[in-house]
Amino acid sequence: MQEHPENTDPVAPQAVTEPVATASEAQPAGAPAGVAFPKTIKSFVRRAGRTTTGQAKAFELLGPRFVLPYRAAPLDMTEAFGAPGPAVLALGFGVGALLKRIAEQSLSNIRILQHDAVEVIDHMLPHGVLEGVHIFFPDPWHKTKHNKRRLIQAPLVAKLAARLRPGGYLHCATDWEPYAEQMLEVLGAEPLLRNRQATGGYADRPAYRPETKFERRGLRLGHGVWDLVFEKIQ
Ligand SMILES: C[S@@+](CC[C@H](N)C(=O)[O-])C[C@H]1O[C@@H](n2cnc3c(N)ncnc32)[C@H](O)[C@@H]1O
Repeated sequence: MQEHPENTDPVAPQAVTEPVATASEAQPAGAPAGVAFPKTIKSFVRRAGRTTTGQAKAFELLGPRFVLPYRAAPLDMTEAFGAPGPAVLALGFGVGALLKRIAEQSLSNIRILQHDAVEVIDHMLPHGVLEGVHIFFPDPWHKTKHNKRRLIQAPLVAKLAARLRPGGYLHCATDWEPYAEQMLEVLGAEPLLRNRQATGGYADRPAYRPETKFERRGLRLGHGVWDLVFEKIQ
């Protein structure tokens, strides 16, 4: 999460929730044997083995300062950032790579949560605290039977809209056209949001959105890129 979006460095990823584990698919620690816990559908799977030495070093050095613990309690923005906000929430990024960039660019206004974003939104983010939400290239879950894992679905969008301040924005980008269509439909149906694009369609890529690794890969494969920018009604 990044405080004061106007300070946003256009090339820096802007924080941030990133899962460390598919925790809720397992039995909670200390649970009595044989007790069934409801499974939640996750939008991610654990990925391992992609950390470079530089990223590991950055994590060791900067983790204690920039990584916040997940707690099922509202985040005190002033305590977390040294100022009350507003903040931009960026969802889904590589923690090691982000910390390395933080070091390279001497950034100070970013905080990282290594946890399922859905739980972070539910339990840590107060209503009206966000200036913006960036969801760039969320996992497309191509197969129809996996579509239910997609992040951009009505319940999550409603939760995000509630956390935006009036006039704040939700920006999604994808290189998978069927997902772009789903995004347009779901965002368009959320009563608290309106499309900033007067024609009601996709947006031009705003200058602040960096070209990411996933985007470059998509472009190489001949995919298009679709941006959607919606605003919370005043
Ligand atoms: C395809 S990558 C895109 C990364 C980056 N935004 C980019 O554009 O290059 C999707 C990322 O979202 C993360 N992600 C998916 N569901 C998530 C969730 N519920 N909470 C936190 N991160 C999530 C994945 O772990 C992955 O890092």
